[in-house]
Amino acid sequence: MIGNSAPVRWRGGLAPGHERRGGELFAGGVSADELAATYGTPLLAVDYGVFDAAIAQFLQACAPHSVEIAYAGKALLLVALARHLKHTPLHLDVCSLGELATAERAAFPPDRIAFHGCGKTGEELDAAAEGRVARVIVDNIEELRRLGSRSGGAKISVLLRVNSGIEAHTHEFVRTGGARTKFGFDTAALPAALETLKKLPGLQFEGLHSHLGSQIYDTQTFVENTHALMERAAFAAAAGFVTERIVVGGGFGVSMHPDEPDTFDADKTIAEIANAARKDAKRWNLPLPQIGIEPGRALVAQAGTTLYRVMSAKRQSGKPFVIVDGGIYENPRPALYGAYHHAYAARESGPLQETILCGRSCENDELGTARLPSDAAEGDLIAMCTTGAYTYSMAGNYNRFTRPAVVAVRGGTHTLIAKRESIDDVLRNDCDE
Ligand SMILES: Cc1ncc(COP(=O)(O)O)c(C=O)c1O
Repeated sequence: MIGNSAPVRWRGGLAPGHERRGGELFAGGVSADELAATYGTPLLAVDYGVFDAAIAQFLQACAPHSVEIAYAGKALLLVALARHLKHTPLHLDVCSLGELATAERAAFPPDRIAFHGCGKTGEELDAAAEGRVARVIVDNIEELRRLGSRSGGAKISVLLRVNSGIEAHTHEFVRTGGARTKFGFDTAALPAALETLKKLPGLQFEGLHSHLGSQIYDTQTFVENTHALMERAAFAAAAGFVTERIVVGGGFGVSMHPDEPDTFDADKTIAEIANAARKDAKRWNLPLPQIGIEPGRALVAQAGTTLYRVMSAKRQSGKPFVIVDGGIYENPRPALYGAYHHAYAARESGPLQETILCGRSCENDELGTARLPSDAAEGDLIAMCTTGAYTYSMAGNYNRFTRPAVVAVRGGTHTLIAKRESIDDVLRNDCDE
């Protein structure tokens, strides 16, 4: 099923998987009009062809170095998607009971699931202790103790998440390594974590983890992270712990714009990560650990397209504005930290003009600017690209709007994989008194 490993690319100003036939937009071989007419808008269309091509590209880059890939479920996880992933060699990262339940509903094998998160609840730790996942990535000392106090049966495999102190060159909101972040054990905290582990016989130290952030394009940052992990593996070895696995995180950059060159080179990056680990293992006389990566965005972002209907096209102080039927509630990232999504009209017509694209929330929820037809009008369809990651998974019900539907498209076919929320869904937890 995962065959084609050709890189997914923008072509002729269009996002991967998009094409125009007679001026009309098709995604995954299905017309945007047909999708919108069948499922309504806003609608997230996930092109499984693009998704599989990205997976194949990473598998091909990782295979020569035996690097293991875990899909970061936080990017987008639905039962259908987990079922799809189950049939690939990928592992899966979950960071909540909800994500775990999604994987379990899809019968995703527990021995390929890792539990993440920096504030795990008792129920979540219980799930790990009950063997519902293969390993737990522990963020802090309290969590280590709480997990240790639960074990009783088989040993629970743990990776310690370390803060390697490396600041990736990315937006501070999506940076998870460095001095000003909450994640993991910093250098000062690591000795105490290892000491604590010695007193917790129910836990099995398996290795170390460090994720630096999202949208990182340069290979060197991942190489530095690998060195940082191996340096800590040497420290752990001196304390009597064998590091069998290091996970260098996700965060591999994705091209968001047709004019943006495909700056991230998976083959080179994975090869250099593996090379750095090999060198350090030799240098410190350590066994070479299993290397893992956990991309989310790089696998699913480009597969996603959000279709919106224009509700109003107006000029404000001389500037063209278009209000669409989505917004901050289903894609909060543009408002949260200026995330960019390229957008265009589903039907080409007339001259284009720079237009401010807004959602319909009671906020200034600009989704960005786009070159849209100057005669854009109510009812037109707009396609927002690269919305597969961190849109639906971050969606909420602000203004009591309903979350969109999600449809899988591939080779001209389409299948609903998440229903549009109903008003009853939105009201379901309200109590009468
Ligand atoms: C621990 C961890 N691993 C992996 C990822 C995936 O990052 P990305 O989707 O940018 O690859 C994240 C994202 O927040 C993360 O927190």
